[in-house]
Amino acid sequence: MPLDRLTFQGLRNLQAIDITPGPRINLLTGANGSGKTSLLEGIHVLGMGRSFRARQLRHAIAHDADAMTLHARLAGDPAVTIGVRRHREAAELEMRLSGERLDRVSRLVETLPLQLINPDAFRLLEGPPAGRREFLDWGVFHVEHDFLDAWRRFRRALKHRNALLRHGRMSDASLDAWEQELVHWSRLLDGMRRDWIERFLPVFEDTLQELITLPGLAVRYARGWDRKRELSDILRQARHTDHQMGFTQQGPQRAELGIRLGKRPAVEVLSRGQQKLVVSALKLAQGRLLEQLTGRTCLYLIDDLPAELDSDHRRVFCQWLERMQCQVFITSVDPDALAGLWQADTQLTMFHVEHSESGQGQLLPMDRQTS
Ligand SMILES: Nc1ncnc2c1ncn2[C@@H]1O[C@H](COP(=O)(O)OP(=O)(O)OP(=O)(O)O)[C@@H](O)[C@H]1O
Ligand SMILES: [Mg+2]
Repeated sequence: MPLDRLTFQGLRNLQAIDITPGPRINLLTGANGSGKTSLLEGIHVLGMGRSFRARQLRHAIAHDADAMTLHARLAGDPAVTIGVRRHREAAELEMRLSGERLDRVSRLVETLPLQLINPDAFRLLEGPPAGRREFLDWGVFHVEHDFLDAWRRFRRALKHRNALLRHGRMSDASLDAWEQELVHWSRLLDGMRRDWIERFLPVFEDTLQELITLPGLAVRYARGWDRKRELSDILRQARHTDHQMGFTQQGPQRAELGIRLGKRPAVEVLSRGQQKLVVSALKLAQGRLLEQLTGRTCLYLIDDLPAELDSDHRRVFCQWLERMQCQVFITSVDPDALAGLWQADTQLTMFHVEHSESGQGQLLPMDRQTS
């Protein structure tokens, strides 16, 4: 369901916002520092409970405000509202779904599936495995109802095993019990991830090949423990070394999505622009698969679309966004870079972020147009 109303207060430099985004492609232009990325950041907080650029959400609160309050309405009958509020002095984010207080971010994630593609996108390839695991689990979470429960139970067993190891309380009976539990949930998680990746790969390959030709590019899932051995044996035999390390070294917490070009990690070979296209294909494929499997669309936040992409690649990227029928928020400093990329009948909604001398950004709707 698209967002059909956004009201933000106290977010970075943005003046209070009350806008009606279009159901499809929303284009945001404005000078450097006007507040375009901040708007995307606000939507990201509504869907993920966290920012993509500040580790502490507190830093996103406007300097002169005590709190940041963000609301979104999702079109539908009945419409759903999401509200989050972060007070400067509070330890936590307050979250509400249609007025009901939430205590888990997963409910936000469930309600507003979103993907971000920004100039840091290459980090998905370059960065540590945790980012790629998160990417994988986003997909599994949205299609497998039991995933979250299995994941929580797995984490609990892992925490207990690690605590026993760390404290040197290595009674075989207590370790046996937690290891059994760990193995049970690990197998389930691995099964769900494997099923998902099987369905994901053909969609990814199809998406990628229209964006860029990269023969030999392969995405491979590794479950996080030796392929040829049972996890129960691995855990039993690793008790001593795991005790020395202070944590459990193998298991689904170490799963990885390896992205390679031929025999080498893709990140060592590809240019920045090629990396951005590979990451874009991964993220577009997430949304396409979500739609295929659940009928739900994914919201896309595309920060600085033109960065690193030449005009041909921009065009094919935008064609995918048009084809997917999803809601998109795209920013650019240069309005011309976003012009001429769209089919004549694509519904574009345009906003300009006006930068005042005091540094505040004001979001102004522009005439709705087609390209
Ligand atoms: N907590 C805050 N309170 C007030 N202003 C802030 C805060 N944090 C950052 N800013 C300012 O907000 C402005 C908006 O930043 P933002 O990154 O959203 O701009 P942008 O339009 O995306 O710019 P660019 O085109 O350079 O990417 C910046 O001028 C920044 O200095
Ligand atoms: Mg920006």
